[in-house]
Amino acid sequence: GAAVTQDIGSIEDGQMIVVKYRGKPIYVVKRTEDMVAGLESVKPLLSDPESDASLQPEYCKNPTRSLDPTVLVVEGVCTHLGCAPNYRPDVGAVDLGGNDWYGGFFCPCHGSKYDLAGRVYSGVPAPLNLPVPEYGMDGTILTVGE
Ligand code: FES
Repeated sequence: GAAVTQDIGSIEDGQMIVVKYRGKPIYVVKRTEDMVAGLESVKPLLSDPESDASLQPEYCKNPTRSLDPTVLVVEGVCTHLGCAPNYRPDVGAVDLGGNDWYGGFFCPCHGSKYDLAGRVYSGVPAPLNLPVPEYGMDGTILTVGE
Protein backbone atom coordinates (compact mmCIF):
# COMPACT_ATOMS: atom_id res chain seq x y z
CA GLY A 1 0.00 0.00 0.00
CA ALA A 2 0.92 3.64 0.27
CA ALA A 3 1.94 3.45 3.93
CA VAL A 4 5.43 4.58 4.88
CA THR A 5 7.41 3.22 7.80
CA GLN A 6 10.26 4.89 9.64
CA ASP A 7 12.25 3.90 12.71
CA ILE A 8 12.08 7.00 14.90
CA GLY A 9 14.07 5.54 17.79
CA SER A 10 17.08 7.72 17.04
CA ILE A 11 15.33 11.10 16.99
CA GLU A 12 16.82 13.22 19.75
CA ASP A 13 14.53 14.84 22.30
CA GLY A 14 13.22 18.08 20.87
CA GLN A 15 14.31 17.25 17.31
CA MET A 16 12.21 16.89 14.16
CA ILE A 17 12.53 14.66 11.13
CA VAL A 18 10.55 14.81 7.91
CA VAL A 19 8.97 11.72 6.34
CA LYS A 20 7.46 11.87 2.86
CA TYR A 21 3.96 10.47 2.54
CA ARG A 22 1.92 10.77 -0.66
CA GLY A 23 4.10 13.66 -1.76
CA LYS A 24 3.57 15.58 1.47
CA PRO A 25 6.16 16.28 4.14
CA ILE A 26 5.14 14.72 7.45
CA TYR A 27 6.79 16.35 10.43
CA VAL A 28 7.71 13.99 13.24
CA VAL A 29 8.82 15.71 16.45
CA LYS A 30 10.15 13.98 19.54
CA ARG A 31 8.59 16.23 22.16
CA THR A 32 10.28 16.68 25.51
CA GLU A 33 8.28 16.58 28.73
CA ASP A 34 8.56 20.38 28.91
CA MET A 35 7.12 20.66 25.41
CA VAL A 36 4.20 18.42 26.34
CA ALA A 37 3.58 20.38 29.53
CA GLY A 38 3.56 23.65 27.57
CA LEU A 39 0.66 22.52 25.38
CA GLU A 40 -1.74 23.43 28.17
CA SER A 41 -0.45 26.95 28.77
CA VAL A 42 -0.79 28.12 25.15
CA LYS A 43 -4.46 27.16 24.85
CA PRO A 44 -5.82 30.69 25.44
CA LEU A 45 -3.76 31.89 22.46
CA LEU A 46 -5.09 29.32 19.99
CA SER A 47 -7.98 29.43 17.50
CA ASP A 48 -9.11 25.87 18.09
CA PRO A 49 -7.34 24.51 21.15
CA GLU A 50 -9.48 21.37 21.35
CA SER A 51 -9.04 20.68 17.63
CA ASP A 52 -12.78 20.52 17.12
CA ALA A 53 -12.73 21.80 13.54
CA SER A 54 -9.46 20.31 12.54
CA LEU A 55 -8.32 17.22 10.88
CA GLN A 56 -6.98 14.36 12.91
CA PRO A 57 -7.89 10.74 13.42
CA GLU A 58 -10.27 10.14 16.32
CA TYR A 59 -7.46 8.49 18.31
CA CYS A 60 -5.54 11.77 18.14
CA LYS A 61 -8.36 14.05 19.26
CA ASN A 62 -6.83 14.49 22.69
CA PRO A 63 -4.81 17.21 24.48
CA THR A 64 -1.54 16.25 22.74
CA ARG A 65 -3.08 15.36 19.32
CA SER A 66 -1.07 12.16 19.33
CA LEU A 67 -0.94 8.46 20.16
CA ASP A 68 2.16 8.98 22.29
CA PRO A 69 2.45 12.42 23.92
CA THR A 70 6.19 12.53 23.21
CA VAL A 71 5.73 11.98 19.46
CA LEU A 72 3.99 14.56 17.29
CA VAL A 73 3.06 13.56 13.74
CA VAL A 74 1.57 16.33 11.57
CA GLU A 75 1.47 17.33 7.92
CA GLY A 76 4.07 20.02 7.29
CA VAL A 77 1.66 21.94 5.08
CA CYS A 78 0.35 25.32 6.21
CA THR A 79 -3.44 25.41 6.15
CA HIS A 80 -3.34 28.91 4.64
CA LEU A 81 -1.78 28.42 1.22
CA GLY A 82 0.32 25.33 1.66
CA CYS A 83 3.83 26.53 2.47
CA ALA A 84 6.04 24.40 4.69
CA PRO A 85 6.15 25.90 8.19
CA ASN A 86 9.54 26.09 9.89
CA TYR A 87 10.13 24.19 13.10
CA ARG A 88 10.96 26.79 15.76
CA PRO A 89 11.04 24.83 19.00
CA ASP A 90 12.75 27.37 21.21
CA VAL A 91 10.81 29.54 23.60
CA GLY A 92 10.99 33.15 22.41
CA ALA A 93 12.13 32.20 18.90
CA VAL A 94 9.23 34.08 17.32
CA ASP A 95 7.93 37.54 18.27
CA LEU A 96 4.23 37.20 18.98
CA GLY A 97 3.73 40.86 19.72
CA GLY A 98 3.46 40.81 23.46
CA ASN A 99 2.52 37.16 23.90
CA ASP A 100 5.12 34.54 24.65
CA TRP A 101 6.23 32.02 22.04
CA TYR A 102 6.39 28.58 23.60
CA GLY A 103 7.83 26.87 20.55
CA GLY A 104 6.11 25.42 17.52
CA PHE A 105 5.98 26.04 13.78
CA PHE A 106 6.26 29.36 12.00
CA CYS A 107 5.14 29.74 8.40
CA PRO A 108 7.46 32.16 6.60
CA CYS A 109 5.02 32.88 3.77
CA HIS A 110 2.44 34.98 5.64
CA GLY A 111 3.38 34.55 9.28
CA SER A 112 1.02 31.84 10.49
CA LYS A 113 2.01 30.30 13.78
CA TYR A 114 1.32 26.85 15.21
CA ASP A 115 2.10 25.36 18.58
CA LEU A 116 3.92 22.11 19.32
CA ALA A 117 0.74 20.13 18.65
CA GLY A 118 0.28 21.84 15.26
CA ARG A 119 -2.57 23.97 16.61
CA VAL A 120 -2.90 27.34 14.94
CA TYR A 121 -2.60 30.55 16.91
CA SER A 122 -5.36 33.14 16.77
CA GLY A 123 -4.94 36.16 14.53
CA VAL A 124 -2.96 34.59 11.70
CA PRO A 125 -4.00 33.83 8.10
CA ALA A 126 -4.13 30.03 8.51
CA PRO A 127 -7.69 28.90 9.35
CA LEU A 128 -7.07 25.42 10.74
CA ASN A 129 -4.67 23.35 12.76
CA LEU A 130 -2.12 21.29 10.86
CA PRO A 131 -3.74 17.97 9.86
CA VAL A 132 -2.62 14.80 11.61
CA PRO A 133 -2.40 11.89 9.17
CA GLU A 134 -3.50 8.36 9.96
CA TYR A 135 -0.56 6.64 11.61
CA GLY A 136 0.40 3.88 13.98
CA MET A 137 3.29 3.14 16.34
CA ASP A 138 4.83 -0.24 17.09
CA GLY A 139 7.67 0.36 19.50
CA THR A 140 9.91 2.83 17.70
CA ILE A 141 8.48 2.01 14.28
CA LEU A 142 6.16 4.69 12.94
CA THR A 143 3.82 3.81 10.09
CA VAL A 144 2.18 6.74 8.31
CA GLY A 145 -0.88 5.86 6.26
CA GLU A 146 -3.10 2.81 6.28
FE1 FES B 1 1.44 29.78 5.58
FE2 FES B 1 0.24 31.71 4.17
S1 FES B 1 0.94 29.77 3.47
S2 FES B 1 0.81 31.72 6.24
